[in-house]
Amino acid sequence: MNKRLLFLVFAALSLNLAAEVNYQVIPLPQQISIDKSGQSMILSEGMTVSYPAKNLKMKRNAEFAAEYLGLTVTENKKGDVNLTLGLKSNNPDDYAINIGKKGITIQGASESGVFYGIQTLRKSVMNETGEVRLPYAWVCGSPRFSYRGTELDCARHFFPIAFIKKFIDILALHGINRFHWHLTDDQGWRFEVKALPELAAKASIRPCTIVGKNIGLSDPDNTIYDDTPETGYYSQEELREVVRYAEERYITIIPEIDLPGHMIAAMSVYPDLGCTGGPYKVWSCWGVADDVLCAGNPKTLEFLKTVYGELCDVFPSKLIHIGGDESPRVRWKACPKCQAKMKELGLTKEAEFQTYINKEMEAFLAQKGRQIIGWDETLEGGLSENAAVMSWRGYEGGKAAAKLHHQVVMTPTSHCYIDYYQLKNHDAQPLAIGGYLPLSKVYSMEPVPADLTKEEAKYIMGAQCNLWTEYVLSPDHAEYMLLPRLAAMSEVQWLQPEAKNYEQFLERLVSLEQAYRLLGYKFCKAYE
Ligand code: ACM
Ligand code: ZN
Repeated sequence: MNKRLLFLVFAALSLNLAAEVNYQVIPLPQQISIDKSGQSMILSEGMTVSYPAKNLKMKRNAEFAAEYLGLTVTENKKGDVNLTLGLKSNNPDDYAINIGKKGITIQGASESGVFYGIQTLRKSVMNETGEVRLPYAWVCGSPRFSYRGTELDCARHFFPIAFIKKFIDILALHGINRFHWHLTDDQGWRFEVKALPELAAKASIRPCTIVGKNIGLSDPDNTIYDDTPETGYYSQEELREVVRYAEERYITIIPEIDLPGHMIAAMSVYPDLGCTGGPYKVWSCWGVADDVLCAGNPKTLEFLKTVYGELCDVFPSKLIHIGGDESPRVRWKACPKCQAKMKELGLTKEAEFQTYINKEMEAFLAQKGRQIIGWDETLEGGLSENAAVMSWRGYEGGKAAAKLHHQVVMTPTSHCYIDYYQLKNHDAQPLAIGGYLPLSKVYSMEPVPADLTKEEAKYIMGAQCNLWTEYVLSPDHAEYMLLPRLAAMSEVQWLQPEAKNYEQFLERLVSLEQAYRLLGYKFCKAYE
């Protein structure tokens, strides 16, 4: 081949290598306007990213951008990529990216907006190798909901801090900004309480676990247990570090200590807290236990205030999750202490007795500037004054709460329970709790019920997926359950209904899956 021909082949190859990006990431930006001039810029290593002097959050944003894009950080001076504030918008998470003659500007309505702009640019280019060509463009994003959550249950199975950080990275990649952390349950207590050391030392240990698909002890004679203890708790030092890690990524951790049900692990070390006095053992099976906290025993509130006091010391979140789900009232009905307390309070229904505890917790937490959120069962005895509601048994609880002008997070089992199977063929997937929640169903979720008035609809803060882990045994398995369903949830959380399009989402997903591969995330490769 002569030199000239060789040069032409080389030039053609290089042209092919200079991939031109289209900014069509997940969640899809609200607007992508490619400049009609057809001009573009090449992103190359050695370029600089600048941020406003002395703004530490913007400095951290610049470091993220530098890490993702292979750039160098520079304070204040104009860089090739400029991070700035001042985007005029009431939504702090809004961003606008301008790619033009003067380089790239990522402007946010606040630092979080800049962070989301960086994520969009990152996802636009991350799968490209060689030269990356950025067409001159104007790209902006604005999330539909302020609350964009994902719940992870670390009680049924314990997940190490390294995975929790990876989980937070996964949320950040998807523009999700709330991590609802389920820290305690019948099957294990994971939150260190310094004043109550038995919780971490003993209530965190489940000596064995029921084998196979089981709910409760429906057939005690034929129940098989493994002999593998499930243990682990998070020290307050570790949790503070995780809180910091999440904050840098604009994620608020909402901790949940579930009460008055789902408390057997705590009752196993403090049996006075239960109506019968026990003894209790950290539960080795799944399902809903009859044994709950004795609300007639003054020690119970004392215990709760100690636990939540330390919880607030560690987690700065305004919302604190008090659980409230699946708490049978049979023990309260038969308990002299509970019945006497109900009589003293003038209550006739056990559901109202649960509201009594919620009100006590609300008052206690309000002194610390916090607000309670609970599962939709908390509606049954009447909501306490400022309680927010997490609607999981369908949309009805959330709807009722919104009509009462209480804040709501929608997380109905029908669209948000990602512990369910994601494919019809169960044999093609690891054992799961049951159900069927394919990717397309998550994508189709509409968090705002159509029959709410405009005023009532304002109380729907957002939506979240929940990953319960009875049958999720490892970080790899958790990632497989999360991805790509979180991608669908992120468009539910970010996009206006008219901007959603499942077919186009699937096209964009090809590129996001490539990003999952690059980042070492496990995901379900088939979807329905
Ligand atoms: C729940 O799934 N029990 C809230
Ligand atoms: Zn009792």
